[in-house]
Amino acid sequence: MSEGLEESHQLFGRVAEEYDAARPRYPEALYVALEEQSGMRLAGARVVDVGAGTGISTRGLLDRGARVAAVDRSDRMLSRLRARTACGALLADGNDLPFRDGAADLVTYAQSWHWLDPALSVAEAVRVTGPEGAVAAWWNTVDAGKADWLAAYQVRLAESCSGYVGPALPGWSMPPIAGVMAAAGLAVRETWIGWTRSVRLDDFLTDLRSRSYVARLNGHEVEELVNRERAEIGRVFADGRLTVPMRVYLATGRKSRPGGG
Ligand SMILES: C[S@@+](CC[C@H](N)C(=O)[O-])C[C@H]1O[C@@H](n2cnc3c(N)ncnc32)[C@H](O)[C@@H]1O
Repeated sequence: MSEGLEESHQLFGRVAEEYDAARPRYPEALYVALEEQSGMRLAGARVVDVGAGTGISTRGLLDRGARVAAVDRSDRMLSRLRARTACGALLADGNDLPFRDGAADLVTYAQSWHWLDPALSVAEAVRVTGPEGAVAAWWNTVDAGKADWLAAYQVRLAESCSGYVGPALPGWSMPPIAGVMAAAGLAVRETWIGWTRSVRLDDFLTDLRSRSYVARLNGHEVEELVNRERAEIGRVFADGRLTVPMRVYLATGRKSRPGGG
C-alpha cells in the first residue's frame, strides 16, 4: 500500500516505544477462532508472523505453543520484540519472505497486512505454507457503534488527522484480504469477535500516540491532540479508567478445504 513519503516501518519505528507500552493485546477468543477457522492447532504449528512489530501477536501465538518466526521491516519495532520474546526475529520484507517453499504451516498478519502489497504478500504466504497450510489476518478496532463517547472521539480524530483511517470515515471497512485470499484459491472464512478493553486514560493516550495517523503529525500537533483528548475523555471517565468496546476482524484462508474438497 502506498502511504506517502515515509514508509510504514519508518513511521512505526518512531513510535515503537509507545506501541510497545500501550497497544492492546488480542482476546483469547481470537486465538480460539483462528484455530477453528484455519483447522490448525497452534500448539506445535510452524508460524511466520509477518509485520510482527513489537511482538503482541507473536507472543500470543507463542503462548499457545506455536513455533514462531517473527518478520518485520522495522529494526526499532523488532528490537522491542527481541527484548522480551523468545523466538527468531528477522528484519525482512513480508512481500519477499526469506523462507523456502512449504517451510511454514501458517502465515499470520496481525494489524499489518494493509501495509503490504496486497497480491505479492498473499502469493508469498501461499508459497511458504505447505499443502495443508493456511493464511490468517486480523485487526483489532474500536466498536464505535457501542458507545457515544467513542464515536465522538473517532470523529474528532478524523477531523484532526488527515491520514485518519477508521469507523468515522464514510464507507470505511476492513482491508480486503478475504477477496485476495479467495483470488489466490484459498478457502476463506471471516468472523468478528467482540471484547471489552479496560485501560487507564494515560495508557489510552500513549496508544493514541502510536497510531500511524498521529505519528504523521508534528510534535506540537501531537501534544495539542493528546491534551485535548485527555480533557474530553477525562470528562467521561472521571476515575481515569476507561471501558472501551472493541472487536477483532479475523479472515482465514485454507489451502485444503475441510473434508478434502
Ligand atoms: C501495526 S504494526 C503490527 C504489529 C503486530 N503484529 C501487532 O499485532 O501489534 C504493523 C507492522 O508491520 C510492519 N510492516 C510494514 N510493512 C512491512 C513489510 N513490507 N514487511 C514486513 N513488515 C512490515 C511495520 O514495520 C509494523 O511493525
